[in-house]
Amino acid sequence: MKRREQQSQANLYDSLEAWTSGNLKNQESKTVLITGAYSGIGYFTALALVKAGAHVLIAGRNSEKLDKAASDIRGVATMGSVETMLVDLASLESIRNFADAFLERHASLDVLINNAGIMMPPESLTEDGFESQFGVNFVGPFALTGLLYSALTRTPGSRVVTLSSIAHRGAHIDFDNLKLEKPYDPRREYYQSKLANIIFALELGRRAETKGDGILSVACHPGFTKTNLQRHVDPAILEKMVFMEAWQGSLPTIIAATGEDVKQGDYYGPDGPKEMGGFPALGVIDNAALNIDVAAKLWELGQEATGVVFP
Ligand SMILES: NC(=O)c1ccc[n+]([C@@H]2O[C@H](COP(=O)([O-])OP(=O)(O)OC[C@H]3O[C@@H](n4cnc5c(N)ncnc54)[C@H](OP(=O)(O)O)[C@@H]3O)[C@@H](O)[C@H]2O)c1
Repeated sequence: MKRREQQSQANLYDSLEAWTSGNLKNQESKTVLITGAYSGIGYFTALALVKAGAHVLIAGRNSEKLDKAASDIRGVATMGSVETMLVDLASLESIRNFADAFLERHASLDVLINNAGIMMPPESLTEDGFESQFGVNFVGPFALTGLLYSALTRTPGSRVVTLSSIAHRGAHIDFDNLKLEKPYDPRREYYQSKLANIIFALELGRRAETKGDGILSVACHPGFTKTNLQRHVDPAILEKMVFMEAWQGSLPTIIAATGEDVKQGDYYGPDGPKEMGGFPALGVIDNAALNIDVAAKLWELGQEATGVVFP
């Protein structure tokens, strides 16, 4: 999708329904897994895909919130179907159990959307000893993708979509500070995890391409979108910021997951100034995300940390 064409259409849309009617094709027969999909961007992505006919599995760590989201979606969607499953991305054991259960139930997986994430929480470690943002935002999705890789390769035209952020720009991966070895800086650690996300998406695509595995790996980001993600941010700071609604913030993900023109290694975000708001277009990838030596080192770390070796 070309940035300029899309900008000229921007004012035509005022709801998820208005946007999807012209931009989202029928998704019947597709199985889509979305992590963190009972709120924010994940919820609206799930809603749009179910309405378009897909079978969407929403995965999260709270069963009541999963049930409520599934019931809300079923209440408005006339096509498609929703399934729920528990997974805690801060626990490799939970991810392994989830993947086993998923593979028992499903032979194929058309789209995996690594959406779940946390931002600037109080200092803590995951169950496996990683700084929580690096652990939940990168280590968990790395393991999940690797464990479901067989289902992706079995499914013609499959995709992995990974949520990054504008925050990846200017960040760097400090391999000596992934387990809170240094004093905690919540913002720096968030930026680092989101850089890891886009590096992962690009490296996954390169590896799948080299091996001829037929998987498209795409990154995306939602600009500034008002969601629960900002729960740890000072309200006085939030008041001064301009946010999109969650339905609009979900659009780059929806395009990344379904767009027919999407290519290996694409990165979608909003088309407005500094990619903070607007409608889906190709975004700017920071040079730090294009460093293949860092990508190789991060991949190695992911495999060692999780014990998950991509086939
Ligand atoms: N909103 C923005 O402006 C913005 C900007 C750039 C990037 N992003 C990215 O967009 C993605 C979606 O975030 P959002 O804005 O939609 O925020 P959100 O509404 O808070 O959604 C995040 C989801 O991830 C889930 N999650 C958190 N920790 C988890 C864990 N350990 N295991 C399983 N699920 C977990 C959350 O569940 P709980 O409610 O149980 O915590 C929630 O459902 C994130 O990757 C975020 O980094 C957002």
